[in-house]
Amino acid sequence: SSPVSRSGRFASGPGADVAEFTESISFDWRLWRHDIMGSIAHATMLQKIGVLTKAELQAITKSLEEIGQEIHDGKFEWKPELEDVHMNIEAELTKRVPTGAKLHTARSRNDQVALDMRLWLRDEIVELAGELRGLQGALVGLADKNAEVVIPGYTHLQRAQPVYFAHHLLAYVEMVERDHQRLTDAFQRVNVCPLGSGAIAGSTLPLDREFVAEQLGFVDAKGKPVVTQNSMDGVSDRDFAIEFCSVAALAAVHLSRLAEDVILWASSEFNFIKIADAYTTGSSLMPQKKNPDVAELTRGKTGRVVGNLMALLTLLKGLPMTYNRDLQEDKERLFDTAVTIRGCVRLMGAMLENTSVNTKNCAAAASDPALLATDLADYLVRKGIPFRQAHHVVGAVVALAEKEGKALNQLTLEQLKALDKTFGNDALGVFDLKKAMAQRNLIGAPGTKEVARQLGRWKKILKG
Ligand code: ARG
Repeated sequence: SSPVSRSGRFASGPGADVAEFTESISFDWRLWRHDIMGSIAHATMLQKIGVLTKAELQAITKSLEEIGQEIHDGKFEWKPELEDVHMNIEAELTKRVPTGAKLHTARSRNDQVALDMRLWLRDEIVELAGELRGLQGALVGLADKNAEVVIPGYTHLQRAQPVYFAHHLLAYVEMVERDHQRLTDAFQRVNVCPLGSGAIAGSTLPLDREFVAEQLGFVDAKGKPVVTQNSMDGVSDRDFAIEFCSVAALAAVHLSRLAEDVILWASSEFNFIKIADAYTTGSSLMPQKKNPDVAELTRGKTGRVVGNLMALLTLLKGLPMTYNRDLQEDKERLFDTAVTIRGCVRLMGAMLENTSVNTKNCAAAASDPALLATDLADYLVRKGIPFRQAHHVVGAVVALAEKEGKALNQLTLEQLKALDKTFGNDALGVFDLKKAMAQRNLIGAPGTKEVARQLGRWKKILKG
């Protein structure tokens, strides 16, 4: 049977290779639920403006709901020769209910597909936002369970200054918070109803666009319907998809950095954490191996999510107005991004919930007195030495310790005083880690009180 879109004008159907090349049902079937939802809203409006009778509307709605149930149950037969999800559903509807032929009045697949994608993406955004909150919860949970643990903080992957392990994890909570904000913001631009744009130029029929928008929940904070304001933009705009993919790409980059930290921490060299067996895999050859595959795959999948964004930007860049079939290529990138980022967020969170901290190894690493070299310089600053000079003096202290093969705090007071007479009898007290941590109380600093305050703040936010 020839596709509905070719009836009348065409003498023959497409060749098998053309059909295979142009079909989208193999991936856009995912839109079925939203396609049906949109069709019911459109039909309801058509009845309101007198295009359908009440009985016709009822028959169409009932049949669409039945088709939906069959798709849900896996009993619906998708026909590749009908190209896409829209044609498959409409053709089946019309086969069952002849007045289904009225459903496409004043509608094009161009505004229909834009509608379906927006509806689908709205749901995805809500789901992803929830997953991001879950990940924040996992990070805060792990931080809270190990609130006393101090580790070296790193710059250039070299030991820099001591920080609470919780402080390190809360850095990611902040990053994920920005992802959540961006996602929520993007939602507003997804949540606009394009239906009524037709193929490009709206319709001569008196559609009630706002009524359709209201039915489908395309409303602003005040409950007012939000519809696209230009029919050409309405059918050719994919900014909403690109914006989502961009938010997802940045979130994935954040996850990838977290994954990298986890991978390092789980290595024998760091040995700061132990990931539960269920979130690791073995080696087929080396019996001793326990690999952090969930973290590695998250890092790896980030490449795909970033690539999807590039693919969509490139897809759009040369397109003349308005709808071009190229746009069909948007779906696999969008779907893949949504599914991938959700999986990454969920699995990283679950992995962290099943990760324990090797407190002894963390304490050993954090006890390196070199981490407090900056504190020693601050000590001299408190005594009135200009910081640049203090930095130079402590540099000499570090060099001396290195020459003698000693840790910084193993130098004698006399050795310190010989390097600078400003050092007082209390100078070596700087290397008391507990005291040092108590002194970092600026807003956002890794001090004992401040980290407890931030942890408390996040626990409250995530509970509410
Ligand atoms: N499958 C198409 C897509 O994804 C639906 C719109 C087709 N419109 C058209 N005029 N051929 O973009």
